[in-house]
Amino acid sequence: MKHFLKETDFKAHELAGVFALAREFKAQRGRAASAVLAGQTWALLFSKSSTRTRVSFEVGIHELGGNPLFLNRNDIQLGRGESVEDTARVLSRFVHGLIVRTFDHNDVVRLAAAASVPVINGLTDFLHPCQIYSDAFTAAEIWAGPGGDLVGSLKGRKIAYLGDTCFNMANSWILGASLFGMKVALAGPQVYEPGPEIKAQLAAEGRAADYQFTTDPFEAVKDADIVYTDVWASMGQEDEAEERIAQMQPYAATAKLFAAAKPDALFMHCLPAHPGEEVEQAVLDNPRSVIFDQAENRLHMQKAILATLSRHHAAP
Ligand code: CP
Ligand code: NVA
Repeated sequence: MKHFLKETDFKAHELAGVFALAREFKAQRGRAASAVLAGQTWALLFSKSSTRTRVSFEVGIHELGGNPLFLNRNDIQLGRGESVEDTARVLSRFVHGLIVRTFDHNDVVRLAAAASVPVINGLTDFLHPCQIYSDAFTAAEIWAGPGGDLVGSLKGRKIAYLGDTCFNMANSWILGASLFGMKVALAGPQVYEPGPEIKAQLAAEGRAADYQFTTDPFEAVKDADIVYTDVWASMGQEDEAEERIAQMQPYAATAKLFAAAKPDALFMHCLPAHPGEEVEQAVLDNPRSVIFDQAENRLHMQKAILATLSRHHAAP
């Protein structure tokens, strides 16, 4: 069973196909809908809030001819203690695939192990692979140009990641960059340096820990092709918000810091943003800020991932 729980679940040789599909779906938007998921229902099982992930998957499944079914954890028996495994087994009898957003990454791994349909990680505390694929696609579209080699255009590029360097977005960039052939420099307070979980993941996959961590944000953005940030208090960390904001202040994506990257560097944020906290409004509004292209591309990339997994599933 092919799942998409982490960036590296598609191998390097499969990436070009997934990116090409996203480009194709983007070009087709508004024309005849594809029937890749005709007659299928895909369930979205969410334990956290979502705007982009939920809507892009629901619209994407619909545009592929399928039926999205949104399930809030607390609306089903999972919220009353039914096991992850039994939930996976039962839902697999009804639906053709599952998109899961939750806290503990291990819950998604357990769900996928018990499911007999493909499972997609729609964000955990550990990783947010759908976002990273859309982000990489967004940069690749610009760098490769129309008809150019999307995945090839990422090779050797440098991303500077600022702020909370030990949560889902930072982890996903570390893992994703190792797949795309990119370099990652992360800058944040020492106490938030990348943790043992992502190091263990790299080691388990035999990947070199090919990233650089620094407490100096200007060192990280030097020669960067992308400057990236995310909120300082993620979903589930609301109680720590005040302390985190105080600690991460030096890592705000200011106009001055963005200007210290390459002159044609892109600014990215997975959104939602907190202007005036992790990023200045002027940076969000900069002509080289591609935040809404990233958001739009969630839809096209989601469709590419769904179509690829459903083909795998259909294969004998
Ligand atoms: N970037 C992202 O995943 O946004 P949502 O939380 O709105 O889905
Ligand atoms: N790090 C953020 C990402 C939101 C898309 C969170 O987990 O809340």
